[in-house]
Amino acid sequence: MNGTSSPQFDPRNMKYRFLGRTGLKVSVLSFGSWVTVGGQIGQDLSKKCMLEAWNNGVNYFDTAEVYASGECEKAFGQVLRDLKFKRSDLVISTKLFWGGPGPNDTGLSKKHLFEGMNASLDRLGLDYVDIVMAHRPDPLTPMVEIVRAFTEIVQKGQALYWGTSEWNSHDIERAHHMAAVHNLIPPSCDQPQYNAFCRERVEAELRPVLRNYGYGLTIWSPLDNGVLTGKYNDGIPAGSRLTGEGAAASDKQNMINFGKALSTPEGQAKIEKVRRLTSLSKKLGCTTAQLALAWCLSNENVSTVITGASRPEQVIENMKALDIYKKMLEDPSIGKDMETILANKPADVELFGRWS
Ligand SMILES: NC(=O)c1ccc[n+]([C@@H]2O[C@H](COP(=O)([O-])OP(=O)(O)OC[C@H]3O[C@@H](n4cnc5c(N)ncnc54)[C@H](OP(=O)(O)O)[C@@H]3O)[C@@H](O)[C@H]2O)c1
Repeated sequence: MNGTSSPQFDPRNMKYRFLGRTGLKVSVLSFGSWVTVGGQIGQDLSKKCMLEAWNNGVNYFDTAEVYASGECEKAFGQVLRDLKFKRSDLVISTKLFWGGPGPNDTGLSKKHLFEGMNASLDRLGLDYVDIVMAHRPDPLTPMVEIVRAFTEIVQKGQALYWGTSEWNSHDIERAHHMAAVHNLIPPSCDQPQYNAFCRERVEAELRPVLRNYGYGLTIWSPLDNGVLTGKYNDGIPAGSRLTGEGAAASDKQNMINFGKALSTPEGQAKIEKVRRLTSLSKKLGCTTAQLALAWCLSNENVSTVITGASRPEQVIENMKALDIYKKMLEDPSIGKDMETILANKPADVELFGRWS
């Protein structure tokens, strides 16, 4: 990946935000590889999806050691090499926690973080990633060991920044405390789930740490696994994620269970809301997916919305969410109409009126 014949990277149609308080700029729409790359879709389609994202100005690509049990990182690294993307134009994140079946292959011990990082870079064929994340909290490893291990990974040059994923504000506070007390490097960002149906953590619980530490957010499943595209409004279509078809063994049952949950009363209540979002999007001249992605972008604490796609056509559609996001900024009534449909805005954490 020396960049000499890299396909042209054209940032003009994309927007970039800082990753929290760091100096790193990430495209507000990014591309993730869970379920798809190295699993559901083959190398050729992975290449087409990632190239389409790149051609639209996406600079941030996300993966993890656990995706398709390591096959995702291998396929992902191969695509980066095949497409000859210029390394300095790319921001790559991977995540460590679930590295295998052995007693020291999971969690955030120094041993797993060091060995997991080496193995991940080997699979990716890279010298470094831009961001390495703790894929989950590990209450059984002392926080100082976790923060020290990530600090050393950064000092070795294997990652430029480190972050967390699905950590609560208490653990993020503890990590920052340990870093301050022991002169270590604190985490810069979290990767939480965030979409129109999953709001509590981002909009309420994390708000104080987002403000106090300038914590960045790289949010996942913005379309709730595709539900927010409207494709499940009339059942589970063939070839879609929630059939579980083609997914790696580690993901298949989860996807099937998620699909089954759509027929419960709670699932049907979601679908009813998606139907109403679909009507709203038609009035606005966009697709349900574009509206749902634009809604995520309208939260200014979100540094980047990690999109997933199984086909390049989906990438093309999803990238146009930027147009509807601009429309939402100009016309706040769109956001209000969405809130009326969703009716799930989390109550503010008690801050004694100090947000306003
Ligand atoms: N940190 C974590 O714990 C964590 C967890 C999960 C994910 N992630 C990251 O977040 C990324 C995004 O999550 P996600 O893949 O779940 O995102 P998502 O946007 O909720 O779902 C993506 C899936 O929805 C379908 N889809 C997307 N756009 C569509 C469109 N325009 N029309 C119709 N269908 C469309 C596709 O599936 P089908 O075509 O197969 O139906 C696609 O693979 C992941 O790739 C991963 O990098 C992180």
